[in-house]
Amino acid sequence: MKILVTGVSGLLGINVAIEAAQHHDVVGIVNNHPLRTQAFSVKQVDLRPPGAIERLLDSVQPDWVIHCAALANLEACEKEPQLARELNIDLPQKLASHVARGGARLLHVSTDAVFDGYTGNYAEEDTPNPLSVYAQTKLAGERAVQDANPDAVIARVNLFGWSLSGRRSLAEFFFYNLQVGNPVKGFTDVFFCPLLANDMANLFLKILARGLKGLYHVFSSDSISKYTFGLTIANTFALNTELIAPISVSAAGLRAARSPNLTMCVDKLIHDLGETPPTISTGLDRFYALYQQGYPQMLSKLCISGEETIR
Ligand SMILES: NC(=O)c1ccc[n+]([C@@H]2O[C@H](COP(=O)([O-])OP(=O)(O)OC[C@H]3O[C@@H](n4cnc5c(N)ncnc54)[C@H](OP(=O)(O)O)[C@@H]3O)[C@@H](O)[C@H]2O)c1
Repeated sequence: MKILVTGVSGLLGINVAIEAAQHHDVVGIVNNHPLRTQAFSVKQVDLRPPGAIERLLDSVQPDWVIHCAALANLEACEKEPQLARELNIDLPQKLASHVARGGARLLHVSTDAVFDGYTGNYAEEDTPNPLSVYAQTKLAGERAVQDANPDAVIARVNLFGWSLSGRRSLAEFFFYNLQVGNPVKGFTDVFFCPLLANDMANLFLKILARGLKGLYHVFSSDSISKYTFGLTIANTFALNTELIAPISVSAAGLRAARSPNLTMCVDKLIHDLGETPPTISTGLDRFYALYQQGYPQMLSKLCISGEETIR
């Protein structure tokens, strides 16, 4: 298959492109952060200007499009709500309608944050109630994609993994700080179901290969608090757990509201795919194995922007 992956300079996109390129012909899109790799072709395209998406689809002619590009930083969305609307609503809407016209399949990536997190164990049919600009725009983006392209897959996710900058995932935050002895805080009252980005990539490919469409929860099959996630990373890498202070999210002074209980139901995915997503501990074992294989260093060498990474 020829697969167009947007956002390949981001946490999810780079891992999706690397996993997909093992079996498929991949074209990855970056915007401000160029990268160079032998594993797949890279194009630098700002997807916002009129005509950009049409020209890209005409030149690549993909079978599948996996749309990972977004404004995914919650605090940035609060500061720049108009940019959040452009990137998280208008862009996926345009992409979905042009992909539908060209006959390719689209997998659009959304988020668990569409829920307020007051109850947990959310299934696809539960009513969202987004608390932040990020979450509101992502929910509106889901609906815009669904209207423009009813055959699209909309995958709600939460993830961790290795990124190009070393700064994009909570797992990297814990690992790199603990590795140099920095004290950190972990929320004891925020629960989530993060999947390793590489495992998520392989589930995306199976979802597309199976011809599924509509809304899917693509999460790990269990849940954890952010504090315990930090402790588990410390234990996995034999780092000092005492550097992690347990705190409540209400004490963190964050601008964007966080949903406290984002435990998610993945029964629909298990039923339709015939496969249970990995647990968090299985994902963290692979996260550690990737580290031992030099995967983070390999990623940092792909950057050609000259930007300093924290490694
Ligand atoms: N990270 C998480 O924990 C998490 C949790 C739940 C859901 N999600 C969802 O997962 C998806 C991927 O998130 P992520 O964390 O991988 O994001 P990320 O690391 O912030 O990366 C965002 C990507 O979007 C690209 N992009 C931004 N503006 C663009 C434009 N105008 N034209 C083309 N590309 C543009 C960026 O390119 P440049 O950097 O090259 O400019 C970058 O590659 C998003 O839909 C997000 O909402 C993420």
